[in-house]
Amino acid sequence: MDNKLISGKVVSAQIKEQVKQEVDFLNSKGVYPKLSVIIVGENPASQSYVKGKHKDCGECGIISDNIAMPETISQAELLAEIDRLNKDDSVHGILVQLPLPKHIDEYAVINTIAPEKDVDGFTAVNVGNMNIGKDCFTPCTPQGCIDMLDYAGIDMTGKDVVVIGRSNIVGKPVAVLALQRSATVTICHSKTKNIAEKTRMADIVIVAVGRAGFLTGDMLKPGAVVIDVGINRNSEGKLCGDADFDSCIDVVSRITPVPGGVGLMTRANLLKNTIKSAKNCLK
Ligand code: GUN
Repeated sequence: MDNKLISGKVVSAQIKEQVKQEVDFLNSKGVYPKLSVIIVGENPASQSYVKGKHKDCGECGIISDNIAMPETISQAELLAEIDRLNKDDSVHGILVQLPLPKHIDEYAVINTIAPEKDVDGFTAVNVGNMNIGKDCFTPCTPQGCIDMLDYAGIDMTGKDVVVIGRSNIVGKPVAVLALQRSATVTICHSKTKNIAEKTRMADIVIVAVGRAGFLTGDMLKPGAVVIDVGINRNSEGKLCGDADFDSCIDVVSRITPVPGGVGLMTRANLLKNTIKSAKNCLK
């Protein structure tokens, strides 16, 4: 079984080693990479993700600061804070943890971040540049999916890739990145008729629906590759993905585990994007 797993631990550790070396180099040139993270409210999942991001930065020598704002903050106050960070030359990356409280317009917030500091790759400028294949910050989770396929030596050229989920954070951008690798891409979502019919044709299934055990082994072609983006808790409180691991493992050629899979790659790519931004200071 173990040789079927594509380990996020192994791939992200490799990325972190590269990041550390780049930080040393930047420090030697007087550049001290810094990420500012804004978190609004007390969402426990967001708090846990943000904690992980700061831990990773610390391990790699990236300075990170945490800007915690109350749930009741006004949109104007939040935008003013982003504006302050945009103008602060010591800050290379700005991340506003999502979701935001309902009274705040997520689109307005994201697009106040200067595109050159948008290490999440969520601003309209970065999304647009990604879509036309120009240099940009690619979003961390989709890029993490592609990195894992690369690490596993899986060439996407001409492969049938089925993406399940059409979110702006994962489904849509990972479909674009797969298309750029010359895959034939199908995007399935909640209104898709007979998803299993589509997934059974796929060489690679990327599942990002946020529902534990959604993708089962009988929905797969033998030898398919599964990239599982889900982070859910099952009825026993155990972390699990969107793929039903036990029924998929006998059918797939490769699969990413949860935990220890794509989630770690999201974190690693945030570090990579922060370094990419800091390097622009050398130009
Ligand atoms: N919430 C869930 N995933 C993400 C992410 O990748 N970035 C941000 N900013 N918020 C998130």
